Amino acid sequence: MNITRMRVNHLENPLGFRFSTTTFSWVVEAGRGTCATASRLVVTCDGATVADTGWADLDSLATQLDLPLAPRTRYAWTVSVRSDADELTTSPEAWFETGKMDEPWEAQWLSCAGADSPRHPVFSCDVALSAPVAQARLYACGLGLYDASIDGQRVGDEYLAPGTNAYDQWLQVQAYDVTEQLRAARAHATLSFLMGNGWWKGRFGFIPEDRGFYGSDWRLIAELHVSYADGSHEVFATGEGWTLTRSNIVASNIYDGMQVDDLLAPVEPQPAQLLDAAQAQAATAKLGDRLSLPVRAHETFSSTLVPVPSGATVLDLGQEFAGTFRLRVHEPAGTTLRVRLGELIQDGEFYNDNLRSAKQEFVYVSDGEPHLLEPRFTYYGYRYVQIDGLTSFDPSDFEGVALYSSFEEAGALTTGHALVNRLVENTRWGMKSNFVDTPTDCPQRDERMGWTGDAQVFAPTALYLADQLPFYRKFAHDMAAEAAKYDGAAPLVAPAFMLQGPACAVWGDATCFIPWQSYLFSGDASVLAEHYHAMKGWVDYVERTDEGERHLWGGLHQLGDWLALDAPENDRTGATDPDFIAYLYWWRSACEVAAAARVLGFDDDVQAYEAMAGRVADYIRAEYFSPNGRCAVTTQTAYALCLAFGFGDPAFSAFALDRALARNGNKLVTGFVGTNFLPRALCEAGMPSKAYDLLLFEGYPGWLREIKLGATTVWERWNSLDDDGRITGIGMNSMNHYSYGSITEWLFAYAAGLRPSADAPGFRKALVAPLPSWRLGHLSCERTSSAGTWRVAWRCVDETHLRVELTVPFGCEAQVTLPLADEAAYEALGGRELGAGSYAVEYETTAPLRRVPSVDWPIGDLLAAPDTDAVVRAHCKPDWIAPDEAGLTLRELSHKLARGSRPMSAEALDACDWELRALAEQGPDAER
Ligand code: BGC
Repeated sequence: MNITRMRVNHLENPLGFRFSTTTFSWVVEAGRGTCATASRLVVTCDGATVADTGWADLDSLATQLDLPLAPRTRYAWTVSVRSDADELTTSPEAWFETGKMDEPWEAQWLSCAGADSPRHPVFSCDVALSAPVAQARLYACGLGLYDASIDGQRVGDEYLAPGTNAYDQWLQVQAYDVTEQLRAARAHATLSFLMGNGWWKGRFGFIPEDRGFYGSDWRLIAELHVSYADGSHEVFATGEGWTLTRSNIVASNIYDGMQVDDLLAPVEPQPAQLLDAAQAQAATAKLGDRLSLPVRAHETFSSTLVPVPSGATVLDLGQEFAGTFRLRVHEPAGTTLRVRLGELIQDGEFYNDNLRSAKQEFVYVSDGEPHLLEPRFTYYGYRYVQIDGLTSFDPSDFEGVALYSSFEEAGALTTGHALVNRLVENTRWGMKSNFVDTPTDCPQRDERMGWTGDAQVFAPTALYLADQLPFYRKFAHDMAAEAAKYDGAAPLVAPAFMLQGPACAVWGDATCFIPWQSYLFSGDASVLAEHYHAMKGWVDYVERTDEGERHLWGGLHQLGDWLALDAPENDRTGATDPDFIAYLYWWRSACEVAAAARVLGFDDDVQAYEAMAGRVADYIRAEYFSPNGRCAVTTQTAYALCLAFGFGDPAFSAFALDRALARNGNKLVTGFVGTNFLPRALCEAGMPSKAYDLLLFEGYPGWLREIKLGATTVWERWNSLDDDGRITGIGMNSMNHYSYGSITEWLFAYAAGLRPSADAPGFRKALVAPLPSWRLGHLSCERTSSAGTWRVAWRCVDETHLRVELTVPFGCEAQVTLPLADEAAYEALGGRELGAGSYAVEYETTAPLRRVPSVDWPIGDLLAAPDTDAVVRAHCKPDWIAPDEAGLTLRELSHKLARGSRPMSAEALDACDWELRALAEQGPDAER
């Protein structure tokens, strides 16, 4: 038995993060036992015990300790576990280290006016070390962006620090362990900060002119704390004695890229200016230890040359991602290079018109020396590159570098279907590309903003794929900070930039949904405690806006089922009544607040918000449903929402959804809202094969069509490209919008059938209800959580035999529903409720796994699916069949069916049978 994945606040050995709470988690593996009988957590500091829980019943998902923490202090911790098989083990030591917390700053803010010169400043100071260094830490915050270095060597491995957040509300301090760098420096070192514009003072968002929303000057505050071997301590802090010089960077921002001129003459260092006292005081008051995960370089991509008619140097990286690049150059002095980055090739050439005003480029003037160029104060969403101005080039000179927040990946899912596997990977790349410190809509055009609606739709998918609690904790903090300015009204975008002010439904509902989902997937209630105020604030705001009997919430400007295909052209909000969607989401958010109140023990609030949810539900029923439960809104999205949210008569909604799909040739028309619910509603209504029809449809509109057209991420629109691969418009058309990637949630939750249970969240208890498909052939999924690693796999052995495998981690419990299984299959598996262990069962299914239609199918079933319906109608006229005949087979009915006055002939029946059997489901292309 051993203990792994030791985390504090879901972070491995975190340094300098905000520890408003300290929540410990660990995983027990490889023992004989199935659960812990007692655990003991010990926290020490310099060998002295700070906390000792004693042997107790500790929650390995989230044990929260109230610790008296001191600033800039490292704490070590171990956990010991006894199992029900009498095993005892103690973990290795893990640690966490506080940042400056509330400690006053010795440092003063440096400032450099943006208007003086476009050349980006470098602030420096000489560090004279008085003795051998035992330990050194650097604490810093620089605006817009900064790169710290010691003697020209980069400090840490982060990009784009301090990240993007609502700078008018809070500023984040990063902490770095610089012990080794200072030891290497011996007596003297130069500490420097190269500054960039970033989100603070660079052009960003919907501001037409070239200026930042939050600031116009560069600012820096930093303290280098050095502990010497002789026990003494020294602080080198920004203030008097620091110098300012200028770099060769002449332009930088998030959208347009960077410009560097290496022919510029060096600038003599001048004394650095201090920020004026009032501004400095206000800025210092906002400083706090970081919440943002570090943005780091992850995957790298080599390039291949794309032959283009123009003869330009165009490169293909093979994958769309967000990040930067490294380009090796050795060009004659004065040569100007222009690197442009984009998502597409059109008419055989590099193309980037869909980036709107974002230039997404890097312009470089060479000084004649060899260099490895790497833009660091911007990022690009791209797969293709065009480089102009080079005199010599080899593809090995260019390397793509993916940048994203350092979350821990947790979920994997593969099937027997190659295109579906690619879809999962495209979704994962959608997440990586749009998780650059804040969950963005897209990583390339002049937007890249934390649209709350997009984040809301994608959150469960992201939580299946990775442990995103720390990432969402920071985003939720920004949402809450913005909402606080408007008495609880959450923003459309967080940080809000120029889009200050209240959001509409679905977007603002992210305030409740994201903390709740983070809790459901982690079992860590601290995320609810932290954001409970904002969750309540949102639904209270909605209620105030609704004004009781006046019901004004719906009347507000709503974005509805954004980009659905069932609306008239140019109407982006879809055909589903946006008010209906708005009230359903309000109801769901009120339920989430009540549920959070229950978890947190706020009994009065449980009642108050259940009552609010009840009032909203009553209004929804009165306004949108007939007394018998028939929904007045008749779109695919509306029926999917009825089924998913439990409104109306489920049998009627299932029937109506099926009919709404059939009316449209079994093709979806749903947008941001409906697409997420449609496949799951079909499964809940007992029609999983229809959900698979949507998933596996290779035409328009569908997920696999994009892949067949070369997508390596998920498109913003179903019709982003036409069937010839031509872009359909440039107003709002990104190839990397993760919203429709939420189908990956369905693959985990329904195709694999693995769902966290609200009874024991964090996968302590999970529902396992796989829905196999002959067309996928097999599926296997893994989700690593703070509870350990869950595995679910199924395989269609043959047309009537299914194999299901399941691993339940230590201390966990599965509630299993086997598909097409009788009691014997459950007995062979070991039951419906299973504790820790590995299980496998192979059984004969109660119905065939493969769909092979024939004239021996009930006529009702044949007419229910468009493909079989079309075949039957080509041979007879089945419309006059009485309802009580729907269960008879076509063969049984054939003598009654007339073509004109003639009965269906034996030949026609044979031909029909042959054509129906030709529609038999095919297995996946790959592996089978
Ligand atoms: C964004 C969307 C966003 C929408 C809302 C778009 O420009 O890219 O993803 O949710 O605006 O208005």
